[in-house]
Amino acid sequence: MATDTDQRKTLVLTGASRGIGHAAVKRFSREGWRVITCSRQAFSEDCPWPAGPEDHIQLDLSDQEGVGIAIAEIRHRLEANGGRLNALVNNAAISPKLEGGGRMNSIETPMHVWRDVFQVNFFAPIMLARGLFKELATAKGSIVNVTSIVGSRVHPFAGTAYATSKAALAALTREMAGDFGPYGIRVNAIAPGEIETSILSPGTEKLVETIPLRRLGQTSEVADTIFFLCSDQSSYVTGSEIHINGGQHV
Ligand SMILES: NC(=O)c1ccc[n+]([C@@H]2O[C@H](COP(=O)([O-])OP(=O)(O)OC[C@H]3O[C@@H](n4cnc5c(N)ncnc54)[C@H](OP(=O)(O)O)[C@@H]3O)[C@@H](O)[C@H]2O)c1
Repeated sequence: MATDTDQRKTLVLTGASRGIGHAAVKRFSREGWRVITCSRQAFSEDCPWPAGPEDHIQLDLSDQEGVGIAIAEIRHRLEANGGRLNALVNNAAISPKLEGGGRMNSIETPMHVWRDVFQVNFFAPIMLARGLFKELATAKGSIVNVTSIVGSRVHPFAGTAYATSKAALAALTREMAGDFGPYGIRVNAIAPGEIETSILSPGTEKLVETIPLRRLGQTSEVADTIFFLCSDQSSYVTGSEIHINGGQHV
């Protein structure tokens, strides 16, 4: 029987307006996916992609109530795709710095900053994954949490709240893989190193001299790995954290 259900694969992606998320939305769109994006600003016409404005939800992930409202809206929008969500990529994150760009360490970081960072970088991902669980299970979907190399080592520029939120997200990825796996949902993380985006701090050039591949990573290289983890090519990969850092972790 004919049906008017949208047959495209679907992705919910947080933080698509710049950097890694932007490269990802372009990659998935090119592959014919429908991408629903969430971030604080309205859709930017500076760097558009097909169907961007209609499928963008303005959302501040630090607002717990707002996340709940957005989940209801996303679920409603996914009805057009038969209630299927093929992938959730938790990419958006904040990394506060001191005035002047200095590192916020564990002695001085104000607790309210710590809480905000954990809400955006850690609680929002699990809230979204749980809120969209039914749609992910229906599609036997894939979740990718964007962690960081700083989750496993002290980094000269990354603040403590940011680093510990990423370490927690890596641990959560492992826990989720165990819990979501029996429902056919794979959960993996990618841990970028120094990727050429606006999040990088002055002084990164010096650091690059110590990276085995001797260069920054490109956002498209990260997007390729995210796409791999959301595709059938990685159908037996779950609970992994893939380093994308030119060998910086060795
Ligand atoms: N760049 C690197 O070298 C690097 C290295 C390791 C890990 N990572 C990780 O990779 C991911 C992407 O990094 P990036 O460098 O591409 O970041 P970015 O350029 O700073 O972009 C962050 C994105 O997240 C959105 N966002 C930020 N705060 C938000 C909030 N409270 N609510 C909703 N959306 C929010 C932003 O959009 P709006 O401004 O519109 O909200 C933007 O689209 C992050 O998880 C980051 O920790 C990056």
